[in-house]
Amino acid sequence: MDRIRLRGGAPLEGTIPISGAKNAALPLMIASLLTDETLTLENVPRLRDVQQLFHILSNHGVDWSVEGKRAGQDGMSGQTIHLCARAIVDTTAPYELVSTMRASFWVIGPLVARMGVARVSLPGGCAIGTRPVDFFIQGLQQLGAEIEIDQGYAIAKAPNGLKGGRVDLPRVSVGATHTLMMAASLAKGETLITNAAREPEITDLAACLTAMGAKIEGAGTPEIVIQGVDRLSGARHRVLPDRIETGTYAMAVAMTGGDVTLDHARADLLSAPLSILEEAGAEITNTNRGIRVRRNGAGIRAVDVTTEPFPGFPTDLQAQFMALMTRARGTCRITETIFENRFMHVQELARLGAKIHLDGQVATVEGVDQLRGAPVMATDLRASVSLVIAGLAAEGETMINRVYHLDRGFERLEDKLGRCGADIERISG
Ligand code: EPZ
Repeated sequence: MDRIRLRGGAPLEGTIPISGAKNAALPLMIASLLTDETLTLENVPRLRDVQQLFHILSNHGVDWSVEGKRAGQDGMSGQTIHLCARAIVDTTAPYELVSTMRASFWVIGPLVARMGVARVSLPGGCAIGTRPVDFFIQGLQQLGAEIEIDQGYAIAKAPNGLKGGRVDLPRVSVGATHTLMMAASLAKGETLITNAAREPEITDLAACLTAMGAKIEGAGTPEIVIQGVDRLSGARHRVLPDRIETGTYAMAVAMTGGDVTLDHARADLLSAPLSILEEAGAEITNTNRGIRVRRNGAGIRAVDVTTEPFPGFPTDLQAQFMALMTRARGTCRITETIFENRFMHVQELARLGAKIHLDGQVATVEGVDQLRGAPVMATDLRASVSLVIAGLAAEGETMINRVYHLDRGFERLEDKLGRCGADIERISG
């Protein structure tokens, strides 16, 4: 298994191109199941999760291809992919495939909407929490599907098609909102989703579905109204920039000091974390290329943070922010409200010398003057990248094991940081 070795101390200077958003690309790819025409997606990141989803969609009969490089493109430009589900050859998503990536459970919505049946493995446990699928099941039932759980599979049936209905989500769920929006697009009549997720990736999926002929209003607000249509067509859509990758590199710069422009980044996708970073001592400016992040001279200030659904501070940046706070002047509290077990990084940060006290959903971080490099590993991708951020500021060598997790969600991380002066390398094997 590959490892990443880094030596801390160098400030980051230069430009980092921000990739297309993983968490938009995945539902957009799944939307290809809704039509027998070709869906073309631009700016798709080169990630393990994207590769894995190709594999899963192929099993349902989706033909896919990736466009070759064009003149003037470098390895950092996103890829353009074509997906065509002319015929769905299999409505089962087996355990072996779904258990490798939770988001693949979301195929249940398009499959039952288009084919009248879907048999999708329940995803099972996860490193960051129990992550049940009850909202998906209740929501699809509201749209007229009959659902039974048998031998670890959710079997959804709607032989005469789905019917529009009202779904009141008990709490905000990104995956349930994506799935129900896709399913309702092919249902008969009107669907109302209340307490819907407002994440930018929801708005991006709604824009793509609209280009495919869906009738959706209110995406980006807590109430989404969908008028079902008989069929959807192909479309061409560009994946929005990755706000979590943007926030991660912004935190890396705040940690090391320096001056980096995050090319293609959009500040409106992450206002809450950027203002927290400003409070913590980073200087953030919008430029015509993206976002410029600087920290010169001044130290890092401790700031309390609570994770919330969008537009609040995202859980997907909690681990990275905690890494930053390990070097702050003073003490702060970081409260996780989305997942019950998303603190796997705490013990690993402690190996680098961080002082963190965990009490339920609240981590109290007391900033220290110096972190020291050590071998570390993590069990999910955001936790892994928090160790990279800490390692960039630690004295001596940090070796990150299980780089597999980073490759799920960060495109060419070591190249992007290396180009900005970080002493970082991948060790294969
Ligand atoms: C999405 O996961 C993201 N994944 C996650 O990013 C992200 O952390 C999460 O949203 C929250 O923003 C993708 O977009 C592929 P949820 P999702 O349903 O949709 C509970 C990353 O690192 N819940 O919004 O699975 C659930 O347990 C990943 O890129 C139920 O109780 O998250 C959680 O506590 C990790 N029943 C809360 O809702 C359900 O049926 C929010 O989860 C569904 C969810």
